[in-house]
This record gives sequence, C-alpha cells and structure tokens, in this order.
Amino acid sequence: MSALPINVQPVAEPGTGYVRKGDGVPRVDGRVKVTGQARYAAEHGAPDMVFGVVVSSTIAKGRILALHLDAALAVPGVVQILSHLNRPRMRKLDLFYKDMTAPAGSPFKPFHSDGILYSGQPVALVLADTFEAARYAAALVQVDYAQEPHETHLLSHMERSHKPSRLKAGFSPPPNETGDAQAAFDAAPVQVDAEFYAGAEHHNPMEMHATTVLWGPDGHMTVYDKSQSSQNSRWMASHVFGISKRKLTVRNPFVGGAFGSGLRPQYNLILAMMAALDLKRSVRVVLTRQQMFTFGHRPETWQRVQLAARADGTLAAVLHQAIAETSRLEDYVEVVVNWSGQLYRCDNVKLDYRLVALDHYSPIDMRAPGAAHGVHALEVAMDELAHAAGIDPLALRLHNYAERDPQTDMPYSTKELRACYEQGAERFGWSRRPTAPRSMREGPELIGWGMATGQWDAMQMFARAHAVLHADGRLVVSSAASDIGTGTYTVMAQIAADALGLRLEDVVFRLGDSTLPVAPIEGGSSHVTTVGSAVEGACEKLQRKLFALARALPDSPFAHARLSDVQFAEGHLVLRNATVPTALSLQRLMAQAGVHRIEAKHLLLPNLLKQKRYVRATHSAVFCEVRVDEDFGTVRVTRVVSAIAAGQIMNAQLARSQIMGGVVWGISQALHEESHVDHSLGRFMNHSLAEYHVAVQADVHDIDVLFVEEDDRIVSRLGAKGVGEIGMVGVAAAVANAIFHATGRRIRSTPMTPDKVM
Ligand code: MOS
Repeated sequence: MSALPINVQPVAEPGTGYVRKGDGVPRVDGRVKVTGQARYAAEHGAPDMVFGVVVSSTIAKGRILALHLDAALAVPGVVQILSHLNRPRMRKLDLFYKDMTAPAGSPFKPFHSDGILYSGQPVALVLADTFEAARYAAALVQVDYAQEPHETHLLSHMERSHKPSRLKAGFSPPPNETGDAQAAFDAAPVQVDAEFYAGAEHHNPMEMHATTVLWGPDGHMTVYDKSQSSQNSRWMASHVFGISKRKLTVRNPFVGGAFGSGLRPQYNLILAMMAALDLKRSVRVVLTRQQMFTFGHRPETWQRVQLAARADGTLAAVLHQAIAETSRLEDYVEVVVNWSGQLYRCDNVKLDYRLVALDHYSPIDMRAPGAAHGVHALEVAMDELAHAAGIDPLALRLHNYAERDPQTDMPYSTKELRACYEQGAERFGWSRRPTAPRSMREGPELIGWGMATGQWDAMQMFARAHAVLHADGRLVVSSAASDIGTGTYTVMAQIAADALGLRLEDVVFRLGDSTLPVAPIEGGSSHVTTVGSAVEGACEKLQRKLFALARALPDSPFAHARLSDVQFAEGHLVLRNATVPTALSLQRLMAQAGVHRIEAKHLLLPNLLKQKRYVRATHSAVFCEVRVDEDFGTVRVTRVVSAIAAGQIMNAQLARSQIMGGVVWGISQALHEESHVDHSLGRFMNHSLAEYHVAVQADVHDIDVLFVEEDDRIVSRLGAKGVGEIGMVGVAAAVANAIFHATGRRIRSTPMTPDKVM
C-alpha cells in the first residue's frame, strides 16, 4: 500500500477567498482528483486483504448442474470459492429485500440458488491472497449448466407486453386519454406517424463498480462502495446480512462517475460483504469492464408517435406509445411518454407505456431516464410535422407553446422556455436557416441545422445538514450526500460560505459517509435543491445564533439591531445602514462570547402543500449544426447551442460543465452508443470501450451553454431547480433533425451510424 492519506477531505485552494452563490468557482476536489490523492472504492485496502474475482454465467437461462472447482482451489493463494452451494446464511437473502430505489418485483439475489436468470449473472466468487491468483483461478472454474430457451429480443415479443406495476416512487403512469386522439388524428390535414427504436445502452463510468470491505478488530465493517448513496448501500446491506447500522459504515467520498449505475447497490457489494463475513477478513471485489455489462442498463425501447396538426400548425392530436424491456424479476419503469402530453398544448392526447419481460438483468436509470427516449421521439416527430406543414420547426413549437401544464391545467412553478427558444435561436443564428433540406453544402459535406426542446423534472427530496463553526473561523458542514463528479463538494461549501460570509477555503463540506446526517440518493438532478437547501437552512440557524451572541455582548453595538439589519460578509457581522461603520469579526465575536464552537442542525422537508399546486420542471432549447459526409455517411456535430432554464444557478462554471457533459452524452446517444445482444447467446456482446463507443474529444466541437434568467422559490429556497439531466434531453433529437436538414433523410433509430445515414 502506498503512503497516500486515506481520508482526503477536499477543500478550496488557499487564496480562493470570499464567494457568492452563482460565482464560477473551480471544483474544490479538483486537485485531489488529478493528483491521485482521491481514493475510489477499489483503492482502499488492508494488509491482510483478500481479493475476490467474480465468475459470470455464460448462459442466459437455466440451472447450474455442477461447479468444478478443484483446479481453481489448487492455485496457490486461493482461500475460498463462494457460490450458492456454500454461501453463509444471510438473514434476508432467502426472503426478500430491496434497496431504496428498487422497482416493483423481487430483486436479484446473488448466489441465492442454482437458477440462472441472465447471461453474466455471478455464479461464483473466487477469493485469494492476491488479485492475480484470484483472477487466474476464476478462469479455471468450470460450470455445467442445464440450459433453457431464453428470450432477449424485444421486437419479437412485443405481443406479450404488459402494463407496468405502479409501485415505484417517482413513477407516474401515463394519464388517461383526453379528447378522442385517434379521431382527431384521422380528421387532421397534416399527419406524422413514425416508429422509433433505441437499443440498450450501458453507463460505463470511468470507475468500475467495486466494493472494499475493511474488517475491523471488533467485527465492525467499513465498506467503500461505488454508490450514489452511502446510506442506500448501508441500508440494503444491513438488511440482507442482519447487521445493525452501528456495526456497518458505508463510505463513498469519491465516485468516478455513475450516471445512474450507482443508484442501486450492485452485486459486488453483496458478494464482498458475504466473503468478509465468511472469512472475517477484509475483502475487495472489483468488476471488470466486461462485467460492467452484467447489471442495469438503459432499456431497449420501441416507440410510435402520431402527431396531427391543422394547416396553420395547431396541434390536433398526439398519440405516443412506448414498449420497453424489463427483466423477469422486476418491473423497471421510467416516464417515457408523459412528456408528450406536457410539452405542447393539445386537446386530444393518448399515451401508452408497456413493458416486455426479457431474460436480461433489470434495467436501471441512466441519465435522464425515460426522457432520453420519450422526448427524443416526440421532438423528432415535431420536426417531421413542421416539415409536413411547411412551418419552421421553432415557429411550430412557439405556436403550440403551453403556458400552463396541458395535462392538469396547473401553472408551472416557473417556465422560461420561451426565453430559451429566443436566446438560443439568437445565439445560434437560427433565423438564417434555409427551410428546405439539402440547402447547405461545403465541399463533400452537407450541412444541416436542427433544434429540439428538452424538459426534466425539478425535484426536491428531504435531507439533514449539520453545521459547526469553530473558534478559529473554520466552518464544517456535513450531510451524507454524494459527489459523483457533479460538484457537490464545491457547491455545498459555496452555499455555506455565502451564507456566513466566509472564505471558501475556510469551509469544509463532508459527504460520502453513511454516519453523516441523512441525505437522499444523488439522482434526478435534485442534490442542490435538496442538500443545498438543507445546508443553507443550517447556516441560517448559525447566523441567528451568532447574532444572538453579538447582541448579548456588553455594550453591544448590535443590542438594538434586528437580524434583518445585519449581514455576514468577509468574515464579519456587519451592521447595515449604521451611522458609524460597525463590523465585528466572527472570530472576535466567538472569543468575546467565550464559545469554542457553535452548531446548528437543519432538516429540510419539501413544502409539499405548496409544491403540489405547481408543475415543476426544467426546460431547454437545443440548436445544433451537423456536417454529414455524403460519401461516407459520417456525421460531425460541429456546433451546439444549449439554452437552459433551471432556476438560479449556484455555480456558473460547474453548471456549465454539467450541461456540456449532457450535450456530449446527447451526441453520444445520437451517434455512438449501443449495446449489442447476440440473441443466440442472450448476451450483451460489447465488452469494453473499444466496442461500446462513447463520444470522445474528436466527436465534440463547439458547445455553447447559456442559462436564461429564472428564479424558482417553489422548487427550492435557493431559487434553484437543478442541472444535470436537462443538459442531455433533446440533444439527440436536435442532431437527428439537423441530419434530416442536411441530407433529407429521416433516421428514427439511434445511434445514427453511417450505415443508416448513407
Ligand atoms: Mo441519475 S439517472 O438520477 O443518476
């Protein structure tokens, strides 16, 4: 083991100074990440640690008849091989358990029985004193199977689709039909009827899923798990193994990307803990890049969108159907079609969403789940409608703009989508777009301009934050939040520094530990609205305590002031509008009052009574230029303008990075990403980033992000709505629409690879 410190706490560079909410501050965890001081789940260890390597099933359905382990057990250094045959008894594994984000159904239970439910399922865990021995021995394990026929091809089994179960928080089934959509469609002069298809996609974060269990002398386990919530991992593991939370701490201080793959604890957590409990030793289990294709993915989805309009472009009918895959175990659900009833005004709307259970592992949320498919199909169909009606695509959207939510007739908490359209179009130069496809060319390249709308939910959950101001002027704020690369460390410290007028380098934000105050899973772009509001609430309580101390000082100049008369700025409590300048440093205040620390706790509960009177969403308008090589069918996305309405922005630099990342992801969805199944094997065949293509530097050109002014005090006290997923919604549609404008070819399946474009 190297001598690197284990518990690195990110903090701003000295000299960063005083910051306000909204300032473009570089991330405080940047230096520890690029210098290798930040340790990820698989980088923790202990001197006597055992290394676990997973053996994966090679069939998609059937039973294990025999495990041949002699050769593997004979490898020097091999300590144990666990499987369904010899796993330790576990309190809940035999019964039923769920993590906090599990969909309806019965979760996959590793090593539960001899049954094989999907290809890649873990069937054995080889444990050895070295990683090399474990890996070699794992390759020697032979498995005899009784194979049964499997079904992994969505399009072949759509006739047995079923309505999804509703038992999942945050899932809204499609609303009932309004008007008579089919009759209105049939009667309208302009019609579009289009089918869309998207294959499965895998998250492929840089950091592989991994769990390190550190076995303490008293049997206490400290578990480093790649997760979007340390408390979710802790909660599930304590239930499965019947361990009290006092004996189990889960940490995720650094996460190398997740994009939803860490919303549910993966099988590496269960297997590593099973081994640690069995051997009473520290254990590390890291999945291989190939095994990153053996758990949740964005589901393969088929869609049909029918849109109809009057001759002037007024929407007359919207019909949107989606059929997506799920597993035999669970009804994984996402909101795919509902957006089509929300984005535009229309009296006749019919939406339908169904699932087909296949012999794959359950899908899992992946960046902008549901919207990535549903809004894509709607926004490509809207482009088709604009073309059919001979109307500019932006003009068509403005003509059908929804001032209130069309489904419920409720007001939006805020909706500055019109400003997104206007400012984005202006920045892009949309008014210079020739209407006809194939109008722009430069050498062998056809040039096209396309646009699309995006929408994502603006959510708030509940969280606690704990803030302690020390006599030396340092503020420590904590909450069991996560930073999956999104900037949580930075933004939370920034909100706290702003509230108390402290230098950013004097504020420490602690996260990524299940023993910290409760925080939700980092998902749904809700960490700022939730944890950020809790942090601000705790800091406001500190303000009140400090002010009370100041008023109580002998001959206090604040004796007759009210809280609204003072501000916290540059390390001081300042009396506003005072005839004589009056400022008292917080350190002197604490010294004079004789206190060493002041602390405050805040529980942030969303104001549901107020919130539920509004529809809460973020919005975007995406404009894009593509250049298509006519001979090769290759597409370059040369210019993207993304105009975002997401309420108050807490950190201009990090929010811009979030949106840029979303745009890159959208380009990736549009042009590159697809997991391929060999249906004779029932297995995802992509094994690495060599065959699973993601957008790389060469695929990304000019990305221009602008935030329109918006302030939403209904979604959060900060005025923020959350950035993250909104950055990708609509991007792939804008690319598809630009390809149509360039080439006259309408492509309705992603990724839009050269074979489809040519
Ligand atoms: Mo996101 S798919 O909520 O991690």
